[in-house]
Amino acid sequence: MKTEGLTARLNSAGLLRTQGLIGGKWTDAYDGKTIQVLNPATGEVVADVPCMGGKETNDAISSAHDAFYSWSNLTCTERSKHLRTWYNLLISHKEELGQLITLEQGKPLKEAIGEVNYGASFIEFFAEEAKRVYGDIIPATLGDRRLLVLKQPVGVVGAITPWNFPLAMITRKVGPALACGCTVVIKPSELTPLTALAAAELALQAGIPPGVLNVVMGNAPDIGNALLASSQVRKITFTGSTAVGKKLMEGAAGTVKRVSLELGGNAPCIIFDDADLDVAVKGSLAAKFRNSGQTCVCANRLIVQEGIYDKFAEAFSKAVQNLQVGDGFSEGVVQGPLINESAVQKVESFVQDAISKGAKVLLGGKRHSLGMTFYEPTVIGDVKSEMILSREEVFGPVAPLMRFKTEEEAISIANNTNAGLAAYIFTNNIQRSWRVTEALEYGLVGVNEGLISTEVAPFGGVKQSGIGREGSKYGMDEYLELKYVCLGDMNRK
Ligand code: SIN
Repeated sequence: MKTEGLTARLNSAGLLRTQGLIGGKWTDAYDGKTIQVLNPATGEVVADVPCMGGKETNDAISSAHDAFYSWSNLTCTERSKHLRTWYNLLISHKEELGQLITLEQGKPLKEAIGEVNYGASFIEFFAEEAKRVYGDIIPATLGDRRLLVLKQPVGVVGAITPWNFPLAMITRKVGPALACGCTVVIKPSELTPLTALAAAELALQAGIPPGVLNVVMGNAPDIGNALLASSQVRKITFTGSTAVGKKLMEGAAGTVKRVSLELGGNAPCIIFDDADLDVAVKGSLAAKFRNSGQTCVCANRLIVQEGIYDKFAEAFSKAVQNLQVGDGFSEGVVQGPLINESAVQKVESFVQDAISKGAKVLLGGKRHSLGMTFYEPTVIGDVKSEMILSREEVFGPVAPLMRFKTEEEAISIANNTNAGLAAYIFTNNIQRSWRVTEALEYGLVGVNEGLISTEVAPFGGVKQSGIGREGSKYGMDEYLELKYVCLGDMNRK
């Protein structure tokens, strides 16, 4: 279907919101400036949205601050019900939300609807967790005292989210924030703001009060600086590049804000000689080519033991060849376009660097004949540690294969990076799976499985891949302060 027809349908469903949300009011940029949102598969303009900056952000922060007292004083059951209603609305609009994601982000519609289910699952999970913010009673060391620990919401949260999961990276932050009693100012990526705005519309329909959830977008540095400078914003949560994460961490120091950072990865996917070949091919295919390779947990290096290397390379390349590339709205497509031209140029430069240093293209290796930002699903053999492909995140549909001899060597290659988000191993040896899992310096490890993200498990990295965890019961801690209370003179009758 053409972009125009889809936007008309989404508009009539009330889900094509093209203004920011401040204090419950749909708002243009104060100076009237706008930016275009493009369909990466066709280059067509999907919509114009406001190009907001510091002033709008400060107003959004004030609204979130004003709403904080009443929202945080609702009972946990009331907050839980609001979140549950929001979840129901997200699910009942999953088709339209999926279409919006495909329109502005490009991923295939089936995968986009999968993201809606995944994204909504965080709201459902945290609707339930809202009722489990337990404190503690500590045995006192003095007889006339009683010691307690209260958990309280941190306050206003600035949530800065990326384009690769236009819905799920918002809900994974906003779900626990709202469950704990925090209010939020969301800054979605300028490339994919429409899904965020539709989700915000559904939050309003769910009865989440004005000001609890605000959305501003446009001039990213101005918005970021306003969030960092405000002493009313008590926490920044961010998913995106390591470079930007470091700047946010530095900026947050000015007001000593808390930060949660989900940053870049360089995921190793280790295939041992004793792996089941079919399981390894299926798992590494999923870990590499999800979202056309544009996730922080995508396998970035397939590290394959020498005894299985040739067999794996052949079977894997065959499977990659079958991946259908095209517009995410076309039937059967499993690989959409990359997000924009600079993403393709980055992939091209990484591949050229590897070829110039002796790597071999086993499949693909160039732009797709569809043009635009489509790139051929690619497999590159004989990749070495000095090549950029193995050192930095390619964030595209390119699978570099590296060879190793021993388990120790595999662990050393895998850990030889500043990143530490996700890692995958394929082996049928149970002792090895445990040993290697313990030795990997990563926040998430998949054993004989390439798709491991779920709302019930903690997601986050070590080393320069970030700070904090999202999802699961641990995700709540990021939005809570501990308050120690000492009751004295407790022996008086
Ligand atoms: C990401 O790429 O940042 C998130 C991926 C996921 O949630 O699985």
